[in-house]
Amino acid sequence: MQSAVRYVDQTLYIEEVALEAIAQAVGTPTYVYSKAHITAQFEALTEAFNRTPTAIHYAVKANSNLAILSLLGELGAGFDIVSGGELHRVLAAGCDPQRVVFSGVGKQSEEIDLALRLKIACFNVESEAELERIAQRAELNNTTAPISIRVNPNVDAQTHPYISTGLQNNKFGVPPEVALSLYQFAHQHPHLEVAGIDCHIGSQITDVGPLLESLASILAIVDELKGMGISLEHIDLGGGMGIDYGEPGDNSDGALNFADYGAGVNQMMAGRPQKILLEPGRSLVANAGVLLARVEYLKPATGPDSPNFAVVDAAMNDLLRPALYQAWHEIVEVRPAEVTAETWQVVGPVCETGDFLGHDRTLKITDSSLLCIGSAGAYGMVQASNYNTRGRAAEVLVDGDSFNLVRRRETIEDQLRLERVSAEQKQ
Ligand code: LLP
Repeated sequence: MQSAVRYVDQTLYIEEVALEAIAQAVGTPTYVYSKAHITAQFEALTEAFNRTPTAIHYAVKANSNLAILSLLGELGAGFDIVSGGELHRVLAAGCDPQRVVFSGVGKQSEEIDLALRLKIACFNVESEAELERIAQRAELNNTTAPISIRVNPNVDAQTHPYISTGLQNNKFGVPPEVALSLYQFAHQHPHLEVAGIDCHIGSQITDVGPLLESLASILAIVDELKGMGISLEHIDLGGGMGIDYGEPGDNSDGALNFADYGAGVNQMMAGRPQKILLEPGRSLVANAGVLLARVEYLKPATGPDSPNFAVVDAAMNDLLRPALYQAWHEIVEVRPAEVTAETWQVVGPVCETGDFLGHDRTLKITDSSLLCIGSAGAYGMVQASNYNTRGRAAEVLVDGDSFNLVRRRETIEDQLRLERVSAEQKQ
């Protein structure tokens, strides 16, 4: 498995902890993350970019658990946020708001005000209207807003259409010619301070080609701006570095090679004064995490055209990626049962045919077997919902031979707390 787990005596461990022990202590479904794996990924990326001045701003959206944010903050990461809520999380994790960049196409006035008050490092601006709004809010708050314009370099990231963002038909960023005029506006505005330039062409990119191609387009704009007397302190390349989900056969992607990316950027940045910013999410946390689920029922085939179903206690509300993107996640037994291997459709209890975690998986399972769903540390828990009034899963962070519950399982009381039957009913 690509994730940070391995078999010891026929049972899966994450670091020095048996997944069976975690399931016994906190139940299932549970997300389990490895501190050592996140640390190693952060250090590998830092190392790959050590010849170019680089700051890593972890994309909070990938996994926003406070313990994960705190860990990355301690390792030296800044943060890339897309909402005021994510900024509150950075604060709650005890991390520095001044090391935050703020991305996203729909920043609201209150969110902008909060970010200005906390003196974040930069607003990544996605449209002319947003730039005007930020200028207005900065003036009202009697301050100056550091900005970078998100340029859409029209590069095909060759990834799933839902997570491809660098083409001109996407809602993100502005084309280069618009960026130039926005920079002129910002340069002259007393409440705006031009800090950098930004791009993000998509997610789960496994080939450095498109990433370097987009840096080349950005550098052309940097040069044009220089000719206009506008200099920039940083170039933000966004995130998007892909991981290996371990899908067999032709669909196997292999992870983006950090060292190749770092070397390519280093070569292109030679002699240039700008610092590089990176906004990695998935590549730091995806393979640090697994989702632990238990088989509730086996529903073997009833005829030649019907498959075997293994109904587990995790569902699309816990891990949406298979249903939403037809994403492939590896599924293995925590301890293979002593039965013959069979092909199973691994599905959840939610009332939708789209509620599956994996199709056609060869597994040795009985009812009550524990399953481990791999590469679930990114865009797993953060995309969870209460669909079918299912409480969200627990989250556990493992460190060596110990583990901590870093989010308790949601209860029915948690879910009902915000609702009332009628206006008269007391809260
Ligand atoms: N920066 C910006 C501006 C972004 O929009 C994103 C991700 C990132 C950084 C981090 O990208 P990463 O390094 O994680 O690829 N839910 C989808 C992924 C959506 C990505 C959205 N933007 C999935 O489960 O695959």
